[in-house]
Amino acid sequence: MQKSIFMQGGAPFKLGLFGYLHDGGVSLTTASERWAANWDDIAKMAVYADEGGLDFLLPYARWKGIPGEIPQRTWSFETLAQAAALSGLTKRIGVFSTVHTPIIHPVIAAKMMATIDHASHGRAGVNIVCGWNQDDFDMFGIESLPHDERYKHGREWFEIWSRLMSGVTEPFDYDGDHFKGVRRAEAMPGSVQRPWPVVISAAFSPAGRSFAMETSDYLLTVAEDLEAARREITALSDLPSSGNRAEPLKPIAVCYAVCRETREEAEAFHRYYAEEKADNVAVDYWVAGRQTQAMLPEAIYRMRTRIAGGNTNFPLVGSPQDVADQLIALHEAGFSGAGIGLVDYVADLPILVENVVPILAKAGLRA
Ligand SMILES: Cc1cc2nc3c(=O)[nH]c(=O)nc-3n(C[C@H](O)[C@H](O)[C@H](O)COP(=O)(O)O)c2cc1C
Repeated sequence: MQKSIFMQGGAPFKLGLFGYLHDGGVSLTTASERWAANWDDIAKMAVYADEGGLDFLLPYARWKGIPGEIPQRTWSFETLAQAAALSGLTKRIGVFSTVHTPIIHPVIAAKMMATIDHASHGRAGVNIVCGWNQDDFDMFGIESLPHDERYKHGREWFEIWSRLMSGVTEPFDYDGDHFKGVRRAEAMPGSVQRPWPVVISAAFSPAGRSFAMETSDYLLTVAEDLEAARREITALSDLPSSGNRAEPLKPIAVCYAVCRETREEAEAFHRYYAEEKADNVAVDYWVAGRQTQAMLPEAIYRMRTRIAGGNTNFPLVGSPQDVADQLIALHEAGFSGAGIGLVDYVADLPILVENVVPILAKAGLRA
């Protein structure tokens, strides 16, 4: 089966759900409507998204919570196990695992993903994260590598993983700078998709972007606004391309949506959960990890709202027409799709599927 049929066939603009596998989803709010990430709700969301014709389900990989006025991101499930479980409940949608290369050995990742790809009949995908969060690593007793070295480690991880996914009949040895002494590695069967499942990664640094260019089909990226989105696409098309690519690296915009019947309702709900009920302790913690010193106070305020609203992802706030217009604008800017976070992935999904997607279909973005 050709690689990544679910992402590359069908609709010209891919749509998926993003960030649903831990409490709070992409938001940092104390509002009672926040996502609790109970498994039965995740399952309900997945089935609805599948039957509604969305393309993919993509979780963040988190191992640890962050400080907040209330516990934030402390309740989370593991991403490979969720892909296996959700593949049994769904029929068409792509199921991604987000895998930390310093934590999950490539032989284990390959074996597990082959299992998921067979169980889902070719719907597995991987989001490769080379890791930055020492708090996560501390749980494993792992010391973070220097920045660019993480991507060298990631490239070796990818070489072993991709070789195993393509179905190895002849065992092989591998000696890299990071993965040494791998002996007689084999894995049958490989994946159903050939040569391996669809690969996503996410990074802004030159080292991270060249890693994406060498390994990934899609790059997840965040744009400040539409102007920045256009600059981002130009920067991506200027990246030196890896010689092995059959297709260009396709950018996916990470977004969050608050869609209501009217723009006023959507904006009021956004103000309520992302401003009045923002979890300011958690937002402070988030801001402390970023370079905000050079920003104007209004910019920090806007960013705080965006962090509380959706992890700084691209906001899609308004009526179905407003949300569709923003997605169409992202498409016109050069994005190949959007991964969308919601405050409540069960309650907020129907309006997206039933009211926004038909507008996108009319505009030629969806099949
Ligand atoms: C949209 C998006 C999603 C990400 N998801 C995760 C994740 O689930 N877990 C994680 O540890 N890192 C995640 N990251 C972090 C990246 O893998 C990477 O470490 C980070 O962007 C810094 O990379 P850079 O310094 O090369 O730009 C994500 C980044 C982006 C932009």
